[in-house]
Amino acid sequence: MRLLFILFTILIITIEAADILPNSTLSASNPNSKWSSPNNTFSLSFLQLDPTNQSSYFAAISYNNIPIWKAGADTVNGGAVDISGELRFLSNGDLQLISGSSGSVVWSSGTVNRGVSSASLDDNGNFRLKNGTVSNIWSTFDNPTDTIVPGQNFTNNHVLRSGLYSFSLMNNGNLSLLWNGSIVYYNSGLNSSVNVNLSSPSLGMQPIGILSLSDPSLLNPVNVVYSSDYADEGNILRFFKLDNDGNLRIYSSTQGSGTQNVRWAALTDQCQVFGYCGNFGVCSYNETDPTCGCPSQNFELTDPNDSRKGCRRIVELSNCPSNATMLQLDNAKFLTYPPELSEQIFSAGISACRFNCLVNGACVASTSLADGTGMCYIKQPNFVSGYQAPTLPSTSFLKICGPAMPNPTAVSDTVQEKNGGRVPGWVVAVVVVASVLGLILLEGGLWCWCFRNSSKFASLSSQYALLEYASGAPVQFTFNQLQRATKGFKEKLGAGGFGAVYRAVLANRAVAAVKQLEGIEQGEKQFRMEVATISSTHHLNLVRLIGFCSEGRHRLLVYEFMKNGSLDKFLFSEDHSSGRLLNWEQRYNIALGTARGITYLHEECRDCIVHCDIKPENILLDENYVAKVSDFGLAKLINPKDHRHRTLTSHVRGTRGYLAPEWLANLPITSKSDVYSYGMVLLEIVSGKRNFEVSEETNQKKCSLWAYEEFERGNMEAIMDKKLSNQEMDMEQVMRAIQVSFWCIQEQPSQRPTMGKVVQMLEGVFEIDRPPAPKATEGSFAGTSLNTSSTSGLSTFAASAPAPSSSSSFQTAGFQSSASAKNVDRQSSSLLHSEIK
Ligand SMILES: *[C@@H]1O[C@H](CO)[C@@H](O)[C@H](O)[C@H]1NC(C)=O
Ligand SMILES: *[C@@H]1O[C@H](CO)[C@@H](O)[C@H](O)[C@H]1NC(C)=O
Ligand SMILES: *[C@@H]1O[C@H](CO)[C@@H](O)[C@H](O)[C@H]1NC(C)=O
Ligand SMILES: *[C@@H]1O[C@H](CO)[C@@H](O)[C@H](O)[C@H]1NC(C)=O
Ligand SMILES: *[C@@H]1O[C@H](CO)[C@@H](O)[C@H](O)[C@H]1NC(C)=O
Ligand SMILES: *[C@@H]1O[C@H](CO)[C@@H](O)[C@H](O)[C@H]1NC(C)=O
Ligand SMILES: *[C@@H]1O[C@H](CO)[C@@H](O)[C@H](O)[C@H]1NC(C)=O
Ligand SMILES: *[C@@H]1O[C@H](CO)[C@@H](O)[C@H](O)[C@H]1NC(C)=O
Ligand SMILES: *[C@@H]1O[C@H](CO)[C@@H](O)[C@H](O)[C@H]1NC(C)=O
Ligand SMILES: *[C@@H]1O[C@H](CO)[C@@H](O)[C@H](O)[C@H]1NC(C)=O
Ligand SMILES: *[C@@H]1O[C@H](CO)[C@@H](O)[C@H](O)[C@H]1NC(C)=O
Ligand SMILES: *[C@@H]1O[C@H](CO)[C@@H](O)[C@H](O)[C@H]1NC(C)=O
Repeated sequence: MRLLFILFTILIITIEAADILPNSTLSASNPNSKWSSPNNTFSLSFLQLDPTNQSSYFAAISYNNIPIWKAGADTVNGGAVDISGELRFLSNGDLQLISGSSGSVVWSSGTVNRGVSSASLDDNGNFRLKNGTVSNIWSTFDNPTDTIVPGQNFTNNHVLRSGLYSFSLMNNGNLSLLWNGSIVYYNSGLNSSVNVNLSSPSLGMQPIGILSLSDPSLLNPVNVVYSSDYADEGNILRFFKLDNDGNLRIYSSTQGSGTQNVRWAALTDQCQVFGYCGNFGVCSYNETDPTCGCPSQNFELTDPNDSRKGCRRIVELSNCPSNATMLQLDNAKFLTYPPELSEQIFSAGISACRFNCLVNGACVASTSLADGTGMCYIKQPNFVSGYQAPTLPSTSFLKICGPAMPNPTAVSDTVQEKNGGRVPGWVVAVVVVASVLGLILLEGGLWCWCFRNSSKFASLSSQYALLEYASGAPVQFTFNQLQRATKGFKEKLGAGGFGAVYRAVLANRAVAAVKQLEGIEQGEKQFRMEVATISSTHHLNLVRLIGFCSEGRHRLLVYEFMKNGSLDKFLFSEDHSSGRLLNWEQRYNIALGTARGITYLHEECRDCIVHCDIKPENILLDENYVAKVSDFGLAKLINPKDHRHRTLTSHVRGTRGYLAPEWLANLPITSKSDVYSYGMVLLEIVSGKRNFEVSEETNQKKCSLWAYEEFERGNMEAIMDKKLSNQEMDMEQVMRAIQVSFWCIQEQPSQRPTMGKVVQMLEGVFEIDRPPAPKATEGSFAGTSLNTSSTSGLSTFAASAPAPSSSSSFQTAGFQSSASAKNVDRQSSSLLHSEIK
């Protein structure tokens, strides 16, 4: 009994914080004046946060010298005082921060005459003003500044602030980051599987590093964020903090270490933080860090000592003697977040987007997206936040006075960087002069050579130059950069017909897919030309090429990364868990998206491209299951011999089912060959079976032939993927898709519709005639049966199809040129770019 009593007293003593009585004062000048928690984990004292600044003393609660709360953080100077500053706990119960030099009250807790009789700093870091031993009148946990520690509850009544940035918890449980209280640049909600209406949500940091949301209407707290070291052992304090760069991060700090490590950040791409570089500032990445600069030399930094303070025009628009002009920024965008979004968005071409802003008096800048949506954003409010990175698919314009003076390109930077940044100035100068001289000599040499040689080459090289400059040129990476980005080609995503694909993380933290091409025997120039063509091809349903590398024998292409991988994994996977099964609506949208992407390649883009390798492996899905066609334009990069070897034989051996009969009959390959392959893919999307699969279920026939038999019997359910049998679906859409697929796999190319028509048929724009039997059995295709019908057949179809004029001229031109070649060469006949000029 007595033992128990002693234990109890010890317990009381350890739990009870040592009380601080009124009439106590902490002063900045005395480093020993502090109020500590009973076990000394936390203390309240003055910290000098910038050793070079005599006015940067803060009254702060700290852990390992890391401040977790600051007195007066929301005042003008953020609670900074000089060495004569004091924190006073007055006998009237108020806690006040005093600027010693002026004697003025910088901040006060506002607890005068509320019965406060003592204060304490608890072991969890909470500083409380109390009127008894237990009751709280005021506490730092209830008045957070920019940090939350374990045990602290963050509710929808609280706000974390840092400069113009703030973090709040919305009533619906969303975590939101705001700039200047208005622009929401981060908004993350509960997983949609949690379907409840919250009444009073509260966010808490668990000591093991999990951020969880609790609410009376939730049975258990929902974990919303895991720090990367969660549940790691050790005496670690984890806390989350809104940093002054506008990012929300979770940090870990081992007791006694005095260091803190980032374990999670709300925005992985810092440049996406609105206003990070101030008004008119442009955020970009050097090798490692986000950096701020001005859009061009028409601007200057507002504060030369702090590039994050933004930029200003050297000549204001209001003082512009002549009319304003538009500065063009390639691969740049102006960040647009709600509620700004409703301001001005419309669909317009790039030059229209520029012009719209120029003539609109209220417009200061505009951004034209080149991601296939063709969206134009007009910026009216007088605060614009820029982001420029070689990987951004957009072009921006900024209204300026006078001629544009672009920033100098970083020639010397690159040289310095390659040499570890320790190159003496004269070396740089010599290198620059030498390279310039070299370039001049090379150019001169080329000129002479071109004039002496064929004029054909001259036109080729001028076309090359045009392509490179007109297309918002792709980024050129060095092999070293890509090696680093892929961590030495470590994480293989797959192996396509043209080489292996690896996951990479680029300097702006964007994830990308790097394809290491094999069997390329083309010269540098030819390669760059193809790259320029591919990268000038932008469409929502085409995988975007970000850049390339051509160095020695290395040829690599850098593509945007598609989170959900390729279609085949979903259609034919044995793993039928819910995430891996596409429902009918998704399948239909994928079929339509794929058709739109191919239509664009065939009919709408500047240099028309026949894909030559349409199959589920080359249809990628982004995070929203939007289909993106990949690997277009590559067939031409492979040298003819190698091409035949790779594409043809690997097809015949592996995925032969997608090759149009004309491939095997050595006949011209046209865009209709892609239509055939698409038809096979469409049938697979519906049936979930490989088109060349033979099984009991398909009556020991090839799936495509068996499907037509079932179609003739009117037995659509038999063709449908069994895995969808318990789902609701639009049978009319199913019927349409099946009929379109049979039209596409007609043996005669002339019988097949154009891709443009396929899109219309799928959309249900018009009635679809009953398709005749495709009857193609590979190898039975007789070359003789085609040579008359194909030319005439194609032109009739082209004439009857409501295709754009450019497409029909493309088809006839392409067809004739290839048909006229007697001994058809696979490469030229594949019409990778029918040169329409
Ligand atoms: C605080 O100090 C003042 C005089 O400086 C004294 O009058 C007052 O009683 C003290 N209050 C407490 C609670 O000790
Ligand atoms: C010193 O720090 C304070 C508070 O952060 C700041 O307002 C002030 O401008 C700084 N002074 C100098 C010279 O950097
Ligand atoms: C101090 O107390 C806190 C809360 O009870 C505990 O988490 C921490 O481990 C303690 N620290 C030491 C050094 O005893
Ligand atoms: C503390 O304040 C509460 C309410 O504000 C009051 O009910 C209580 O009696 C007070 N306790 C003391 C010891 O003053
Ligand atoms: C935080 O909330 C939990 C339950 O919601 C409660 O038990 C705890 O006392 C709260 N902590 C503080 C410091 O208010
Ligand atoms: C922030 O918003 C206020 C109005 O709410 C506005 O007056 C102020 O100019 C804004 N700050 C900046 C930097 O735009
Ligand atoms: C909550 O966040 C989700 C994103 O996770 C967003 O779609 C939704 O619109 C947000 N809700 C509100 C009310 O902002
Ligand atoms: C939602 O939660 C479920 C179960 O907790 C999980 O399987 C799923 O991946 C989550 N979805 C997202 C988008 O986080
Ligand atoms: C949430 O509230 C809305 C309207 O207030 C209601 O329509 C909806 O059914 C509620 N959801 C749940 C899960 O209670
Ligand atoms: C990138 O910028 C940061 C800050 O602006 C600087 O500290 C760093 O040295 C720069 N790195 C390179 C490689 O230039
Ligand atoms: C920039 O810093 C220098 C010295 O560090 C100082 O002399 C100058 O006044 C500062 N400029 C501004 C605009 O603060
Ligand atoms: C500026 O443009 C306006 C309207 O386009 C035109 O009337 C005016 O003459 C122009 N001023 C100059 C100096 O070019």
